[in-house]
Amino acid sequence: MRKSSDLQTKSWEFSNRIRLLHFIHFYILYMKKVLVTGGCGYIGSHTIVDLIDNGFEVISIDNLSNSTEESLYGIEKITGKRVRNYKVDLCDAKQTREVFEKHTDLVGIIHFAALKSVEESVFQPLRYFRNNLGSLVNILSCADEFQIPHLIFSSSCSVYGNATDLPVTEETSFQEAECPYARTKQMGEKIIEDFCKTTPAFSAILLRYFNPAGAHSSTFIGESPSNKVTNLVPVITETAIGKRASMTVFGEDYDTRDGSCIRDYIHVMDLANAHTKSLQYLIGKKNEQNCEIYNVGLGEGATVLEAVNAFEKTTGEKLNYKIGPRRAGDVVAIYANKDKASEHLGWKPTRSIEEIMKTAWAWEIKRTKGEG
Ligand code: NAD
Ligand code: WQD
Repeated sequence: MRKSSDLQTKSWEFSNRIRLLHFIHFYILYMKKVLVTGGCGYIGSHTIVDLIDNGFEVISIDNLSNSTEESLYGIEKITGKRVRNYKVDLCDAKQTREVFEKHTDLVGIIHFAALKSVEESVFQPLRYFRNNLGSLVNILSCADEFQIPHLIFSSSCSVYGNATDLPVTEETSFQEAECPYARTKQMGEKIIEDFCKTTPAFSAILLRYFNPAGAHSSTFIGESPSNKVTNLVPVITETAIGKRASMTVFGEDYDTRDGSCIRDYIHVMDLANAHTKSLQYLIGKKNEQNCEIYNVGLGEGATVLEAVNAFEKTTGEKLNYKIGPRRAGDVVAIYANKDKASEHLGWKPTRSIEEIMKTAWAWEIKRTKGEG
């Protein structure tokens, strides 16, 4: 009699344990909590909106070295959700680990946090290597220790260097990096690939962004870096609103259709959605390959003069620009073949360069004049 009731108790305990395991499994799979590093920054904040719209719960780590927590208010206005940011430097292994200790139920990490100025990296290479690679190693160590299964990494088309065959595919080989920043992205990719080789239970996607631009259509978030702006689209909007007296088109003597450089401008909300799609893909992933690379661009090149023209046409504003000499280190032309991301991830950009200019301009008006 006693033996049978012992057995019953044991089998009851066993089934309860199974139920608990199922619950934990369900929680991790369906509550879908994601750590976004650099969540207060430009691409991070837009991606958080898209993640929340797709049912993810988000926490952020950002040391605010190139952002403020203002973006979190914007995210709250758009989504109704307040995201918690831990103001931690990811190069500090101890403090980073403490955040992971508080959140052992993460389904994945999207690692945006990095310094990103090409120009600055030329003069401060060690700062760039320390920040961009030190933080990555700490993140991977925590992923390993806390068994976080997935990672999405912000890479860049700058890993291709001065590519000659266009459009570039993911198979296009790296050329010499044009600057230490680009080298941190080349090295970051290799570090993740090596980690994946020794950690079969872990899977990563490396997203190579082309030229992200534009803002959320609500005008509650956009690009507002603490550091000096050098990218074309914010330079255009800052000139149009009068923060700059004029702007320079760097070179009109390149071998392109109008003599100015060609780039692939991708709307930041399309780029944001590529992260959500990547994470969903990793969560449901069946194949063996645990480190994959995808280009994230519109798949079309626009010249600098075409970009200026698109801005003037879309907004009705006249831009005060002059033609100047070439900028050192500029590649003549680069744009993406985006087929792999469309086929594997089911990702398709839907916004044109006109939409980029329209939303970037609305954001500029909002952040400068408080209107919109
Ligand atoms: P951003 O500067 O707006 O955002 C990066 C965020 O990371 C900032 O908020 C900054 O405060 C934070 N950060 C930096 N170092 C940190 C550290 N050690 N610890 C904690 N937080 C830290 O930049 P972004 O444009 O949003 O870029 C995001 C990522 O995408 C970066 O990795 C960048 O290299 C990459 N990327 C950007 C572009 C682009 O043109 N914006 C293009 C290709 C790739
Ligand atoms: C675009 C085009 C300029 C400003 C950089 C990084 C790359 C990636 C994206 C992070 C170029 C021209 C610009 C101006 C101009 N970032 N221009 N007048 O250089 O393609 O890429 O940002 O990973 O790694 O290198 O972007 O926006 O600076 O320039 O004529 O005032 O606009 O010469 O042809 P770039 P950009």
